[in-house]
Amino acid sequence: MSKVQPLLREIMMGDLLLKNRLVMAPMTRSRANNPEFRSTELQAKHYGQRSSAGLIITCGSQVSKNAVGYINTPGIYSEEQVDGWKLVTDAVHQKEGKIFIQLWHVGRMSHPDFQNGKPPLAPSAINPKSKTFTHEGFQDTVTPRAMTIDDIKQTIQDFKNAASNAMKAGFDGVEIHSSNGYLFHQFFTRCSNNRTDEYGGSIENRARFLFEVIDAIKGVIPENRIGARLNPSFHDIFGITVDEETIPTFEYIVEKLSSYNLAYLHLSEPFNDVTNVPFAELKIAEHFRPKYKGCLMINNKFNQERGNTVLQENLADLVAFGRLFISNPDLPKRFELNSDITRYDKKTFYTPGEKGYTDYPFLTKL
Ligand SMILES: Cc1cc2nc3c(=O)[nH]c(=O)nc-3n(C[C@H](O)[C@H](O)[C@H](O)COP(=O)(O)O)c2cc1C
Repeated sequence: MSKVQPLLREIMMGDLLLKNRLVMAPMTRSRANNPEFRSTELQAKHYGQRSSAGLIITCGSQVSKNAVGYINTPGIYSEEQVDGWKLVTDAVHQKEGKIFIQLWHVGRMSHPDFQNGKPPLAPSAINPKSKTFTHEGFQDTVTPRAMTIDDIKQTIQDFKNAASNAMKAGFDGVEIHSSNGYLFHQFFTRCSNNRTDEYGGSIENRARFLFEVIDAIKGVIPENRIGARLNPSFHDIFGITVDEETIPTFEYIVEKLSSYNLAYLHLSEPFNDVTNVPFAELKIAEHFRPKYKGCLMINNKFNQERGNTVLQENLADLVAFGRLFISNPDLPKRFELNSDITRYDKKTFYTPGEKGYTDYPFLTKL
């Protein structure tokens, strides 16, 4: 029996050897405050500092101009953006890290301020009645415009272009952000999708858009370099609610994803307390592990102890750490030495510049 703690054991993820099982979870940091919405040396420094993770997943990156929903998030649809990301992938690869980019479309969580005054696109014209963060601060969401079949086809093409750009930028792979109440999740859920065509109604129809995107991306990236993210018990956030069809919908999606040869499936345990929410699944890893044959990544509020336990119990293969990686660039080393963890500062999550982004300390005594 290996004495190395489970989180620090290497693993083959498809054809990629990861040096440990700690993944840096995707986190928006709103620091692409330049006219091209591109990454710069600042992002290269930030991700380079964290390249001791087995795998880094970048912040959500919009696949087109109209996919955006927050200020200063980087895109992956223009040449300037590809050039910006090259700085990042180079910095990570120089330190023998691995990095996937998260491909993002926020759907109805956008705002007319980001869309030349027009309503954002979504599966159906249903206002999430939530808030969105714009240059004017938090604003109420609006009723989106229901996507036409042409809009859907264009968006699939946008994801394919973005994936192709990701390869040009030197990424090891892509994660489809099919989670957390954004566009794909809006298709999956009845409360945000009342379409009557082949993208609405039945479970199979509501899942269709995701599989069409994966099939399109497979044309430009090997299947084993594509990951997907799901948050089955996401409830009462961004206008998404769990109902009796939610878990069966995610079961269908997970079982179908299992027939692909993806890099990984990234699942989140419930973001908020859903103990009393009818039909919500409380134990995501336990519930979905038997339904997925490939590499399973689990996330949400893990620490060293819980991360090692979930791997020891064989409920997952990888653990994604979000906030701990914000404030601990050398998190694997800290786990190895059982050393102190630096507390993150929420106030600098989304502020521009180095503060709270590249100035968290490394361990000095090794
Ligand atoms: C500042 C911040 C930004 C985030 N941005 C994203 C994002 O762009 N894409 C995404 O899928 N999740 C995003 N998340 C969610 C994280 O990936 C992760 O699920 C969450 O932080 C819970 O994991 P943790 O408890 O290890 O932090 C974000 C979380 C934080 C704290």
